[in-house]
Amino acid sequence: MMRTLHTPVLVVGSGIAGLQAALKLAEKQKVLLITKRTADTSSSDWAQGGISCVVDPDDSFDAHMEDTLSTGAGLCDEEAVRAIVEGGPEGIRSLERVGVHFERRDSRPEEYDLGREGGHTHRRVLHAGDITGHAIILKMLQAVHDHPNIRIMEGVMAIDLVTTGWLKHSGVNTCVGGYFLDVKLEEVFAVRARHTVLATGGGCKVYLYTSNPDVATGDGIAMAWRAGLPVKNMEMVQFHPTCLFHRKAKSFLISEAVRGEGGVLVNQKGDRFVEKFDSRGSLAPRDIVARAIDHEMKRTGAPCVYLDITHKSREFLQNRFPNIYQRCLELGVDMAEQPIPVVPAAHYFCGGVEATVDGATRMPGLHVIGETACTGLHGANRLASNSLLEGLVSAGLLAESLKTKDDLIGEVSVTIPDWEAYHAVHSDEAVVVEHNWNEIRTCMWDYVGIVRTDKRLERARRRIRNLRNEIREYYLDYLVTPDVLELRNLATIAELVVRCARRRKESRGLHFTLDYPEMRGEAEDTVLEDPPGESSQMLDARVETPSGLSYK
Ligand code: SIN
Repeated sequence: MMRTLHTPVLVVGSGIAGLQAALKLAEKQKVLLITKRTADTSSSDWAQGGISCVVDPDDSFDAHMEDTLSTGAGLCDEEAVRAIVEGGPEGIRSLERVGVHFERRDSRPEEYDLGREGGHTHRRVLHAGDITGHAIILKMLQAVHDHPNIRIMEGVMAIDLVTTGWLKHSGVNTCVGGYFLDVKLEEVFAVRARHTVLATGGGCKVYLYTSNPDVATGDGIAMAWRAGLPVKNMEMVQFHPTCLFHRKAKSFLISEAVRGEGGVLVNQKGDRFVEKFDSRGSLAPRDIVARAIDHEMKRTGAPCVYLDITHKSREFLQNRFPNIYQRCLELGVDMAEQPIPVVPAAHYFCGGVEATVDGATRMPGLHVIGETACTGLHGANRLASNSLLEGLVSAGLLAESLKTKDDLIGEVSVTIPDWEAYHAVHSDEAVVVEHNWNEIRTCMWDYVGIVRTDKRLERARRRIRNLRNEIREYYLDYLVTPDVLELRNLATIAELVVRCARRRKESRGLHFTLDYPEMRGEAEDTVLEDPPGESSQMLDARVETPSGLSYK
């Protein structure tokens, strides 16, 4: 008999969005928070620069909105932008209430020390040194651990959502929970929940080079898609211009705040080159800077470019960027004396599951927030440091909306069927996983990267299709493991990115194609909406369906 847990609210993911959702929803009810590694493993924890928010009297919501809209290249939803920007100050207060300390100015301790990043017309980035995400997550996690209404389960990987449609119940298709793998016990169990919140981050691990931690495999997006929800603007993948280029430095970001403090990008000869593309130079929005670097590397054949902030004193760099300074030094790069070698890397998914700013989706019982969601805040390109803000504010809005909507969603009475292994056995071919994982990531980097063409996208489509089929077979033949589940999700993410990219016949924001270099007059979202079938979890879930049929 399979174990089934019951909870009013299930939150999947432990970044800023998941933790804030748990804390806010736990004010009213019990929350089960599930996370696939340790609770402090998330992209939020790795965020360096900070969190943008209007706190300076010289700044305004209108200015923050304007910067967000202009970076978003016509694809933002203005109401979503307003809701997130205006929700910022309360979000910051809630973080301070759980003990997060944002840096203040030495000369005026009553004022925040605000950082500057690309695309912002004001200094408005609150930070805690250059480990802002870590400082936030640390305090939020303490609050979560201390909360009597929150239970955390670590080392538990989501497999698939369970919906009434899939269970062949009549009425509106509603999410009623999901299947999960307890990694240590190697046991699949179910969670039956009235509300399921997906806050599992984005899918940048689908690219060979990324600034993200290994957990960023797009699990929530892939699960929601398999459950039949539409995804939006998946082609809008943000490449951060400056990841440390060093053979021992996997995924180490050199924060945009370094450019905010005057760092400039130069080539091997020490010449500036971003200025050829944009008068804002190194502080232009990320899409422009990343493309300029890509162009310069291809033009010169160099493996990287350089970020030069040697004009600042060692003392300033040690105080403002203690983490970056130290990490670079450990790797033999003294940023006070020499330019830092950098390359672009996949950093953030602006697209995701179609959702409103309060996490509502087309499926009752299922809510999606943070990087997993596409709310219209980022449009075709995300303004720096708007992502922690979105995760934080959306989670608060979700909790508010559930307070009023809760009575409207009646309890659906269902029993989740047992998970069946059928003929599946322990894999003796883990090499397949390793191989396919590398192939997907290389294919995406080479063909669906910063600069795209129809030909490259078509090549990627063919390869990803074959890989998807092979991975599905493997998934059905062998007992599930975290690696296989992540690979299966990554393959879905790759397919969705390619499909969206092929649909967009223009260059806009983060999507740049040599075949259509101009931006079209009208801005349109790319929405993928498949009827259950090809993408449906019914093909993939290894459980007996209520009709007694199983896929195998
Ligand atoms: C950075 O510190 O450059 C990252 C900030 C962000 O991605 O918003």
